[in-house]
Amino acid sequence: MKFLIVNGPNINMLGVREPDIYGTLTYEGLCDTIAQAARGMGVEVEFFQSNSEGDIVTAIQNALGRMDGIVINPAAYTHTSVAILDALKAVALPAAEVHISDVTRREAFRQRSFAGMACRYHFVGEGRDGYVHALETLKRDIEGSLIILHAMPRSEWEACRAVGAVGAHLPEGGFLHCSPVEYFWRVAPGHYADGGDYVLLCIDVKKVPAPVKWEAGPHNPSRYYPHIYGACPVSAVTAVLPLRMDSRGQFLKNPELSGYENR
Ligand code: DQA
Repeated sequence: MKFLIVNGPNINMLGVREPDIYGTLTYEGLCDTIAQAARGMGVEVEFFQSNSEGDIVTAIQNALGRMDGIVINPAAYTHTSVAILDALKAVALPAAEVHISDVTRREAFRQRSFAGMACRYHFVGEGRDGYVHALETLKRDIEGSLIILHAMPRSEWEACRAVGAVGAHLPEGGFLHCSPVEYFWRVAPGHYADGGDYVLLCIDVKKVPAPVKWEAGPHNPSRYYPHIYGACPVSAVTAVLPLRMDSRGQFLKNPELSGYENR
């Protein structure tokens, strides 16, 4: 499996540019980190960085037929470039958008992402780890093993089945909280330990048409959770498992979920 890692303007200035925002790691250091992680995952990576919009468009076009996916930080072009969006749409490869800084907490002009509209996953504010996380997530996605979880009372699930979707009535800008398998067991005690009859929905991210954004959890800013910004069709729910506890009130990990840890 081979991935193109695209970085836009001024990413070559990492280490020098605004270290309070982007840290002290250089672009070369960033590439080393990603290359090492890729080796560990058994995937190949090719790096491309340019300060020119047209060159980035060409690099994306050239990925067609050669790459299995794209990890892209379009940098400032994120917020302006319809051409990069169109290139990503044209090649239609699974893509993940990465931003080193948490753009969602910065200036208003950074709140819009054109390229992001063609990306299945978004990782913001994780620093260099965002690229590695993006790579892992795309690999899992392509392998068909990316599963995220959403728990709800069984009665609510029955109601969702009747309408054909989970989160059919989300408010404007609302999202469905989900969790990667390995984090679910950490958050479960805080939400589902009241003895209620809960089910665990296993959602195949590939079957979800709405954007899935990986965003920092409220209690631990270094832990990222997938949020589905829109309804999740019932057909994307590949399994419905009971949420069980033992006599000491400890959650019992469902054996069906072993091997699905994403990170
Ligand atoms: C950036 C965020 C962009 O808004 C900015 O123009 C960049 C870097 C990031 O990685 O945080 O150059 O993409």
